[in-house]
Amino acid sequence: MNKNSQNNSVDVLIVGAGAAGLMCASEAAKRGRSVLLLDHSSKLAEKIRISGGGRCNFTNLNIKPENYLSQNPHFCRSALARYTPQNFINLLNKHGLAYEEKAPGQLFCGQGAEAIIGMLKDECATAGVKILLSCEVVSIQKSADSFSVYTSRGNFLARSLVIASGGLSIPKIGATPFGYKLAEQFGIPVTKLHAGLVPLSFHPDEWSEFSGLAGISLQAEVSFSRQVFRENILFTHRGLSGPAILQISSYWEPGQPLHINLLPDLDLQQLFIEQRSSRQLLDNFLAQYFPKRFAEIWCARFAENKPLNQYSEKALSAFAAQLHDWQITPTGTLGYAKAEVTCGGVDTQALSSKTMQVNEVPGLFFIGEVLDVTGQLGGYNFHWAWASGYAASQAV
Ligand code: FDA
Repeated sequence: MNKNSQNNSVDVLIVGAGAAGLMCASEAAKRGRSVLLLDHSSKLAEKIRISGGGRCNFTNLNIKPENYLSQNPHFCRSALARYTPQNFINLLNKHGLAYEEKAPGQLFCGQGAEAIIGMLKDECATAGVKILLSCEVVSIQKSADSFSVYTSRGNFLARSLVIASGGLSIPKIGATPFGYKLAEQFGIPVTKLHAGLVPLSFHPDEWSEFSGLAGISLQAEVSFSRQVFRENILFTHRGLSGPAILQISSYWEPGQPLHINLLPDLDLQQLFIEQRSSRQLLDNFLAQYFPKRFAEIWCARFAENKPLNQYSEKALSAFAAQLHDWQITPTGTLGYAKAEVTCGGVDTQALSSKTMQVNEVPGLFFIGEVLDVTGQLGGYNFHWAWASGYAASQAV
């Protein structure tokens, strides 16, 4: 596009060629809008590429508003109702792509994440979307009925401006605070931001006695406040990870303990009562339910290793309680470098839940992760990107 020429005028300019931006661009162009999609990265949709271990968990069949964190919990309802998992599955079918339900409800692309990117690029190309990569936005100004967007690759005039620049996680592949800063420029509040779906870390002195457990993965029930997740936890050299920990990390509040039931399917207290006269060593007894290394290290940490019949009832009861309700306070998270998402974002109270348009700034839209709508683990975040992108595409 030539600098300062008439061609630099578009109906819709979208900043951020990730999941939400690509969906919004193709669907808006299908409605006859001229669409320019720009990104400062040299490659588009890098987060799709690295998602789901390269397989992209692109949606979840059991999507409900309750799967999302937001200060405005009902905001996501309308967009989710108008763009369902089946809508995205239809798109895959149209492009001949297969999918697989790897865990209940969680759909992954059979041909891998690159195939999802290829499909979205195809949709954009067919609909006539212009994509500009390696393009830095320098500034944005609003006039009566349009936005002037000044960039490193020319200046553009757009009737609608859609911000799809995502959150702060994984800065090394292109995350920036662009969307939050733009919100600030237009007087739109941004709720408190923190890393979500992220491993938790512990004080090295406190963790040293557990660091020998690194690599062990256990099915556990992890709770904080009223949230409970029963999935695997993974011991690492610095702390805890695994799906149940990632899930709870989005809800966890600094300084507060987590409660972890390491044997959620058994009543250890009852098992001890049944084994009161047993001469089996405690760690051997535990090794029936846990990996041997875990049993040894845990016993060394919380009890002497003696035959079961040499413990008092009180000691065994305390030991069982420790395994059923291990309370541990993280010192923090591994931060945005390791987080899958940013919790918090542009305050949805300022937007229409039907269109994603800012109430006080006609023509300005925010979609995807930049908003204060954060999904749980399991395909919910991509689905929010598709659904919010689609909602805006019908209004731009
Ligand atoms: P997204 O981050 O996808 O796109 C934003 C775009 O804006 C990027 O292309 C970026 O370069 C661009 N941008 C940023 N700043 C800019 C600026 N200043 N100027 C121009 N462009 C700018 N979710 C899920 O549902 N299933 C999954 O399997 C996974 N897996 C997963 C793995 C990993 C490792 C991570 C980090 C994340 C996931 N997620 C996920 C989360 C999911 O990737 C995320 O929620 C969506 O990509 C959000 O889509 P958006 O389009 O909003 O942002």
